Amino acid sequence: MHSLFVLLSLSLAAAEDGLNAWLRYAPVQNSSYRSLPSSIIALNATKTSPVYVAGQELQKGIKGILGKQLPITNGTGRDSSIIVGTLDAYEKRFGEFDKAEDLEEDGFWLSTEGRDVRIVGQNERAALYGAFEYLSRLGQGKLSAVSYVSNPHAPIRWVNEWNNPDGSIERGYAGPSIFFKNGAVVDDLTRATEYARLLASIRINGIVVNNVNADPHLLSPYNISGFGRLADAIRPYGIQLGIALNFAAPERYGGLPTSDPLNPSVITWWTNVTNQIYKRIPDMAGYLIKANSEGQPGPLTYNRTLADGANLWAKAVKPYGGTVMFRAFVYDNHLDYTNWKNDRANGAVDYFKHLDGKFDDNVVIQIKYGPIDFQVREPPSPLFSTLRKTSTAIELQVTQEYLGQQDHLVYLAPLWKEILEFDLRADDRPSKVKDIISSQRFNRPLGGSAAVVNVGTNTTWLGSHLAMSNLYAYGRLAWDPSGDSVEILQDWIRLTFGFDRKVIDTITEMSMKSWPAYENYSGNLGIQTLTDITGNHYGPNPASQDNNGWGQWTRADKKTIGMDRTVKNGTGNAGQYPPAIAQRFENIETTPDNLLLWFHHVNYTHRLKSNKTVIQHFYDAHYEGAETAQTFVKMWESLKGKIDTERYNRVLFKQIYQAGHALVWRDAINQFYYNLSEIPDEAKRVGNHPYRVEAESMTLTGYKKYLVTPFHAASKYTAIITTSNNTAGTVTAKLNFTSGTYDLAVNYYDLIGGRSKWEVFLNNRTVGTWRGDSEDKLGHALTLLPDGHSATRITFKGVNIAQGDTLKIVGTPDGIEPAPLDYISLLPPGIVD
Ligand code: GCU
Repeated sequence: MHSLFVLLSLSLAAAEDGLNAWLRYAPVQNSSYRSLPSSIIALNATKTSPVYVAGQELQKGIKGILGKQLPITNGTGRDSSIIVGTLDAYEKRFGEFDKAEDLEEDGFWLSTEGRDVRIVGQNERAALYGAFEYLSRLGQGKLSAVSYVSNPHAPIRWVNEWNNPDGSIERGYAGPSIFFKNGAVVDDLTRATEYARLLASIRINGIVVNNVNADPHLLSPYNISGFGRLADAIRPYGIQLGIALNFAAPERYGGLPTSDPLNPSVITWWTNVTNQIYKRIPDMAGYLIKANSEGQPGPLTYNRTLADGANLWAKAVKPYGGTVMFRAFVYDNHLDYTNWKNDRANGAVDYFKHLDGKFDDNVVIQIKYGPIDFQVREPPSPLFSTLRKTSTAIELQVTQEYLGQQDHLVYLAPLWKEILEFDLRADDRPSKVKDIISSQRFNRPLGGSAAVVNVGTNTTWLGSHLAMSNLYAYGRLAWDPSGDSVEILQDWIRLTFGFDRKVIDTITEMSMKSWPAYENYSGNLGIQTLTDITGNHYGPNPASQDNNGWGQWTRADKKTIGMDRTVKNGTGNAGQYPPAIAQRFENIETTPDNLLLWFHHVNYTHRLKSNKTVIQHFYDAHYEGAETAQTFVKMWESLKGKIDTERYNRVLFKQIYQAGHALVWRDAINQFYYNLSEIPDEAKRVGNHPYRVEAESMTLTGYKKYLVTPFHAASKYTAIITTSNNTAGTVTAKLNFTSGTYDLAVNYYDLIGGRSKWEVFLNNRTVGTWRGDSEDKLGHALTLLPDGHSATRITFKGVNIAQGDTLKIVGTPDGIEPAPLDYISLLPPGIVD
């Protein structure tokens, strides 16, 4: 046993671009680790086999972590070895294996006890999982002798990549696709293989590579051969390829007059296509289908049931052992918003309840975690407890579509855990979501999870180094949903950034505070994210929620807010849950504050359990959340010198950006509800900004006023833009502030389509200069106009100002970006505004 050892992470030497994520194999100096075996035996020599890959990976990892080059041998039996292989191969070589009984599908046994390290997988991919597990232990300095079996909680552990054939990615924030370009699968599949490596290390076993809003032309023979190449590229990592289908492909691509799922020629067409695919990809995982949703065609278009559609493909893939993931994201996006009984949240149960038992046994209903759409907080979808005779999987989002698009730090494991651990009390028995999707609770043949990840060509995969904790945590929770959010996070930190205690503590604190902070400054009390739901889902725009057919309503008016989802008076959604839960949500007294406005329509003056009014809670939470976001900058800065410069700077840039945009969120939401309710903030902060000077109130030359839409995305509703797109504009103001040292913040708008330049002067002395080039540095969906998405801030620290100084900003427009400015803030030390 190595009770005393010295561990040092030596990872500071090289600059890091993120490509290796948590598989960096950074050197660990360990003075007492002497008993490393002297060779590697991989019990399969076929280069495309995951066991062979495991051998290579062990060699690479040990070289990196411990600096030793171990030979991969056939094993003479004389030296101690790291043996990796399947159960069958192991037994053939070494005789009976006493843990054989304990291994379930994809499960492995790892033993570092005794002379050899033994890694035995129930199948090939399981052996690879075991190798990664061993390397993860080494990489984290977990060196004690162990022997354990690890089995998956559920068989389906997939990712969905919403990639389009042209290389764009729906809701992707890290550059173009690693899989497709110009209508076809890319020639160079290096990144696809590297991605498979990352995913195998977190035990993901399927990738659906194309968008759920699927292009029917992907089924052409040329593209099927492209899918084949992709499947070949990921197969050595034990990962199977899945394909998202367009329901109307028989018409749109096949030239048939109909796509009716019961029409014999349609059935033949799909069967033929499926046979062709399996001919090229014998281990194809299966299909993913989005039908009758958001304008996509589906069986309902032909007066058939959703089950008729799902079963058509289920039968086609059945002979090959394939699975059909059929999405429960079915709803009417033209709901009549004037009818207070309508509710999009009812869609899934309404559409699927009567079909329970009608799906073939290789169909899995893939259900988004909440009833609406990946919001910052939702209750679990009631469909989880409704389907008893149907296999289900949970759909999560690693890509932060509604949660800051990787430009805000939001560690998602705690959000997912709340859903997974939620006990739905079906038949008044323990019915945690995690046990329903694992197929245990209702005893179904299949189950598991899928996450929309949307990695791109950016070397960080997700566009942000810190966002990778979400991908890591997803894999860990798909394997074991009982895992602890902090433990998972800290494993990831050690592998990604090393062992320094301060690094671990700081990133842990930032990450664990990040979801609550984001919820606080975006949308709290269960009102949803309050983003621009008809646009890019990024910045604040609460008004966009209501008065349209999309059904993400808040029902906010002058006096009241929230969706009444009760049975007694509202949409009846609470009644879709099993009785114990239905009762909890039906009653305002038993509904937790954080879901109050999800289930109830109340006055702004309604008192929460905290005794605050709803409106005051809104104001306070937005101030609190935005303030927490400011502290992330300081926390990250405290790690300077402990993290390589490349990653340190990239993360710092994002945290500074987030701190600024959190203020945009705070002010927009607070201003919106203050305008609507006219109830003042008890703390007198909302609408009252003594440290600000509005740009529109300065002396403008070559600049003009601009009324921002939505109005609350600008301080006092107004910004300024240059009067021409070619000529610089100037604003000046005499500063009426007490002489002293201030942080000078400038709020401006950074649009896509130009890189304007701004220069700030004090009495003609340059304070600083910057460009509107966030299109080169940030990942979120950018916009063309000053709004809640493009609003941002730059801060110049420690500026000495004497009363009466003249501040001047010169803005030089570029392209279509007219150097927009909102306001400046002169902040005394410690003040955030
Ligand atoms: C969200 C998202 C869409 C996506 C859809 C889906 O609404 O904004 O881009 O297509 O979910 O999950 O199908």
